Amino acid sequence: MALQPVWKMVPDLMKNSKYQREGQGPECTVERDGKKYEIRMVHSTDEKTVQEIQELMEETFVKEEVDPIEVLKAAIDGRLFDGSKDIARYRLYVARDEAGKIQSVYTGGMVGMAVAAFPGEAMFMGAYGITRPESQRQGIVRELYISSMMQAAADAHSQGKKLSMIAGECTWSSERAWNSVGRRRVYVQTGPNEYSELRYVQPALNFDVKTGLPTEDAGEASEHIMVDFLEGEPDKGRISTSVESIHKWCNTWPRNAFENQAAYDAHVQYVAHLRSEFNIFMLMNGPLRLLSAAERDQLRAEGATINEYTEADREEEGPEISASPRGRSEEL
Ligand SMILES: CC(C)(COP(=O)(O)OP(=O)(O)OC[C@H]1O[C@@H](n2cnc3c(N)ncnc32)[C@H](O)[C@@H]1OP(=O)(O)O)[C@@H](O)C(=O)NCCC(=O)NCCS
Repeated sequence: MALQPVWKMVPDLMKNSKYQREGQGPECTVERDGKKYEIRMVHSTDEKTVQEIQELMEETFVKEEVDPIEVLKAAIDGRLFDGSKDIARYRLYVARDEAGKIQSVYTGGMVGMAVAAFPGEAMFMGAYGITRPESQRQGIVRELYISSMMQAAADAHSQGKKLSMIAGECTWSSERAWNSVGRRRVYVQTGPNEYSELRYVQPALNFDVKTGLPTEDAGEASEHIMVDFLEGEPDKGRISTSVESIHKWCNTWPRNAFENQAAYDAHVQYVAHLRSEFNIFMLMNGPLRLLSAAERDQLRAEGATINEYTEADREEEGPEISASPRGRSEEL
């Protein structure tokens, strides 16, 4: 099988690393100025680690965005919470400091492209990235990202697939961290010298088994979708398919989770409706542009109009990351 495109990207990411990596693979020790972190993949049997990660997630994100711990454990095992096989290979990487405390976690999964138009291709969905406030801006999540990419390439390879793109639902405050590993927000041309960001809505994560619709406490959330194409030009077909893959993996429950067929149908319909709104906006407008924060600043300076998807900028997720370093207390 041809070389995974990730292996062209990983050396570039490593070139800009602030750390010395001891070990060639995803699990390694990273060291900088005498400070060491152990990078390890998480196993579901490691109850203490899974619990520590769940707590970190609950402290960091709004409730609707975090799955219950049983769902997390099953996913690490490659299963859904009902015991059936998951369609994605979900992986979690953690960096522990010398005292053994988790300072950073990065999670995501390799999943086959949802439609037949891209046979043999897989995507990586970046799920969560968290670094404790006291360890932010030290380049640690970047190291976990590098490990995750190596792992996703190996997972894709073992299933005979080519990992062709990366996508994730991102908070507004983390944009520059993901820009630094190659992921960018997605825009379409909506007028002469005018670009508008795609309007992505993350479907609810919890559903009423009687009606198939989201439970009262589980609303949907606007998010910035950020993508990276590992080879070739960005295209709308793959973006739409990657969103479908995300929805199938994260937001679609199996038939046997619901009490009857009508509830299941209503559930599938609910997710499909959100996706079609996203697709219509993308397909009805002009060419795609992937734009980093710095690229948009440049375009604006040159007179372009950029329409941002501000519904996805949530105050409770902390201030937007700025290009200039600030006091740690302001960052979260
Ligand atoms: C987003 C987050 C995970 C980044 O973790 P981190 O370990 O601080 O990130 P890194 O230090 O590895 O960042 C890599 C690069 O990203 C950019 N970056 C990261 N944080 C930045 C900041 N506050 N301001 C500007 N650039 C930043 C920089 O280019 C940085 O390298 P540099 O410091 O040498 O310039 C962390 O800020 C966090 O936990 N935020 C809260 C939770 C969250 O929103 N997670 C994202 C969910 S999608």
